[in-house]
Amino acid sequence: MQKTVAILFTLVLLTACNNSKKKEKDSIKIGDYTAETSLKEQDPLTASKKRGGLLYTDFCMQCHQANGKGVPNAFPPLAGSNWLTEKREASIHAVKYGQRGEIEVNGKTYNGVMTPMGLSDKEVADVLNYVMNSWENTQDKMVTEEEVAELEK
Ligand code: HEC
Repeated sequence: MQKTVAILFTLVLLTACNNSKKKEKDSIKIGDYTAETSLKEQDPLTASKKRGGLLYTDFCMQCHQANGKGVPNAFPPLAGSNWLTEKREASIHAVKYGQRGEIEVNGKTYNGVMTPMGLSDKEVADVLNYVMNSWENTQDKMVTEEEVAELEK
């Protein structure tokens, strides 16, 4: 009888331990959730720009550079780019589907290739909101996931 009690007690203990382990995992998830929430609480453009900044570092910086100025005769600038301000749709299209062939940016001709980077519509919107509102760039109208989704190839 005493043995049975001991075994039962051990089982209860084990279950309790398991539960507390589960809780730990949950709280990590809750931690992530809190981080998500606080990003969502910011105004949509600020949150989108934040996500876009991380994407910029990963996907764009190698060519367009950290300062957005690009590389002369190779990669056009994004900072101060008249393309971004005057050709909104073409800019979104370029990031979503890639861009090749002769283009003129700030009076200089480029004839290179930017392959599509496989970003989701939301990521395209985020990275463009970052680019359009960094360095000296400002754009009134935020790029939305819907706007990117509507753009056909
Ligand atoms: C492998 C190098 C490379 C990468 C990486 C790259 N680009 Fe480009 N990008 C180019 C080239 C080259 C052009 C010009 C293409 C042409 O001549 O038609 C260009 C053109 C552009 C243009 C239109 C012209 C301008 O300067 O305003 C935009 C906007 C742009 N890129 C944004 C981005 C964004 C945003 C990313 C990251 C998500 C990115 N690019 C990643 C090479 C790159």
